[in-house]
Parts: sequence; C-alpha cells; structure tokens
Amino acid sequence: MTTLGTPLSPHATRVMLLGSGELGKEVLIALQRLGVETIAVDRYENAPGHQVAHRAHTIVMSDPEQLKALIAQEQPDWVVPEIEAIATPVLEELEAAGTVRVVPTARAARLTMDREGIRRLAAETLGLPTSPYKFCDSFEELQAAIDAVNGGIGYPCIVKPVMSSSGKGQSKIDGPADVQRAWDYAMAGGRVSHGRVIVEGFIDFDYEITLLTVRARAADGSVQTHFCDPIGHVQVSGDYVESWQPHPMHPAALERARQIAKAVTEDLGGQGLFGVELFVKGEQVWFSEVSPRPHDTGMVTMATQWQNEFELHARAILGLPVDTTLNTPGASAVVYGGVDAQGIVFDGVDAALRVPGTEIRLFGKPESFVKRRMGVLLARHADVEQARVNAKRAAALVQPRTA
Ligand SMILES: Nc1ncnc2c1ncn2[C@@H]1O[C@H](COP(=O)(O)OP(=O)(O)OP(=O)(O)O)[C@@H](O)[C@H]1O
Ligand SMILES: [Mg+2]
Repeated sequence: MTTLGTPLSPHATRVMLLGSGELGKEVLIALQRLGVETIAVDRYENAPGHQVAHRAHTIVMSDPEQLKALIAQEQPDWVVPEIEAIATPVLEELEAAGTVRVVPTARAARLTMDREGIRRLAAETLGLPTSPYKFCDSFEELQAAIDAVNGGIGYPCIVKPVMSSSGKGQSKIDGPADVQRAWDYAMAGGRVSHGRVIVEGFIDFDYEITLLTVRARAADGSVQTHFCDPIGHVQVSGDYVESWQPHPMHPAALERARQIAKAVTEDLGGQGLFGVELFVKGEQVWFSEVSPRPHDTGMVTMATQWQNEFELHARAILGLPVDTTLNTPGASAVVYGGVDAQGIVFDGVDAALRVPGTEIRLFGKPESFVKRRMGVLLARHADVEQARVNAKRAAALVQPRTA
C-alpha cells in the first residue's frame, strides 16, 4: 500500500532530485501534484527545477562530502538522480544502510554514470546485441583497437569519452586520417579529465528509437514492466533535435526491442522509468544505452501520452499504478539559445502557438548558450509526419535574443 503525506509537515513524503534541469523540473511538477515535498539540487543557482520545488540547493553533486551532508540535512525518503555526474558510492552506502531509497537503485546510477559500466553489463553479462566496442586509454591503444587484424573495430567507427553526454567529445572516424582529431576532440570533451574512450563500430541503422520502459508495482506488490510506444528521433552531433511518437516498427523488431529493454531494466532493478536507446535495421535491433530516468527525446510524451514520462516516473517511484497508453501521435522540436547571454527573451511565442495543436515549454534557464537547449515545442496531430512538420515550424518561429 502507498501512503502519501502532507508537504511541509512532519509526515511529508520527501523526494530529492539530484539534477534539476528541464527533465528534473517536470518530475518535480509531477511530484508536486501528488503533494510530495520536493527538494531540487543542481550545480548552479536558479536551475529550472529550483524554480518549482519547495527547497532549492546548489552543490557539487560529484563531491561525496557535499552530497552526504545535504542528504543528512534534508532527510529525503527518495533520492532521484537526474544527471550522471553524481558521487554514486555515497548513494550506494546510504541505500545499503537503509537511510534513503535511490531511484531506481544506487547500482543503476553507478553503472550508467559512465559508458563502460552499462556497456559491459549489457554486452558481456546480459549478452545483448551491441555495436562492437573497445575501451582505450591512449591514442596508440585507440589506433590499435581500430586496426587489429582479427577483431579490430575497423572503419567507420565512433569515438566517445566514457564520461560524457549529449554527444560531447564524440566523433565519427571514416578513415586513418581522422583518428588523431577524434582522439583530441574526445580528450577535450569528456566530463572528467581522464583519458578513457570507447570506440564503437558504426551501426548503419535504418532508424533509432527510445523505448520508454517503466518498472512499476502491481496490486499484488510485484514489479511489472510496461512499455510506451516507440519514440523516433533525430540526433545532430550526438544531441537530440526532434522526436516523435509513435515510430512505426516491424512487429518482430518491436518484440525484440521490448525483450532487450526488459532484460536491461530488470537487471538494473528498482522502480521508475528508463529510456532505452536502440538502433534498428529491418528486424535487427542493437542496444545502445539506457538512462535510468526520463529521457530528453521523451519530452514528446507531454503531448502524446495520458501520463507523460515524468508522471510515469513519479508514479512508479511512489508505488502507484501507471498507464503508458498513447493519447495522440505527436512530435517535439528543440529550441536552442542561439546566443551566449544571461536572461534572454523569446520573441514569436504567440506565432509559434498559432500553429495548430502546439504547446511550448520554456525551461527558464538563467543563462543561454548558442547550443544550449532552452525550450521545446510540442505538436499533436493524427498524422505523426504532420506533427513533426508542425513542431519544427513552430520551433523555428521562436526567436531567442539578448534582452
Ligand atoms: N555505434 C554507433 N553507430 C551509429 N551511430 C551511433 C553509434 N553510437 C552513437 N551513434 C549516434 O550518436 C548518437 C549519440 O550517441 P550516444 O547516445 O551514445 O551519446 P550520448 O552522448 O550519450 O548522447 P545523449 O546523451 O544525447 O543520449 C546516437 O543517438 C546515434 O545517433
Ligand atoms: Mg544517447
């Protein structure tokens, strides 16, 4: 049975978000609607989620001392990681001691915080199909991993820092002339300055999807797996620019995708929503990576599902039933900052919202960068292709500029 409290009372149900960007903000709003007391944490002040939570804190979440002290001070029932760069050993320690519950599990947060943990789990422990890959600690190792006569990765391939997201430091290598550049770029773009990369064989997929997968408690107390309709998306330089749902799939490929998603999320365990990234070619499906939390491409569900991915996450965490059914096809398109400036303004929001069936989310980030995601346009339409056209048209009408 789930019992929920009253916020700001001795019997509050308290949830702490570690990372309070646009995805965390929506999780916080979903929790607020259930009367949960919310604590938003980020590395900078006035982050999107800070603006909608009961309390806001600014700390370095990868610093074990700061993280431990804040959890001791706030005493949340649940800690919900929204980003990867967190001192996960602290979470494992506190979870083991029974001090807090970590979503979905502290182990999942640790395994997905870099590319190595999750890739080895998926490919080597679970035997799931992935691109061929090797981990390398130097330029020489990288070149050798590509070249090896038997079992070399070969060309084309992709190099990524093991600690990075949103395509940072990631590049494609088409031939020997590109290797040095790719190595240097990975070294400059990693989140922490240690020189480890993954080199992956390039998968010539027909399309890629995010399969939002929810582990939620059933009436009998068991945890069951639910799937949302597949989300198609386009990535530019490793960063998502548009997504849509549903993405049509061959039934055999969909079945395979669900098997893979079930296997990896079952191993990571706990309760919550996961974004499973998969590559598809015909009936063949490869596992790429998984976020044990809402996924950026899943923002489209704010227009398409009865319960969007943030509500599903909140409900699953709290042991409530979930409904993953689609309401209407739809699409999302990202609004980038376009300028490097603080406190920017957005022209043309009215024009954008005159495109039929559209909605907008402006994240409220205090500082804009040219390539920073500042908002998203959502469009619903019975025809998913038309929804994509409308989302992109509306997004183009929003003009960020310096105030
Ligand atoms: N082995 C591969 N073969 C073909 N394309 C790939 C491969 N690996 C990555 N890509 C492309 O690059 C995109 C980003 O890769 P990946 O998801 O590994 O990086 P990321 O930095 O974690 O991105 P994000 O944080 O946006 O999910 C993928 O969605 C896919 O389009
Ligand atoms: Mg990805």
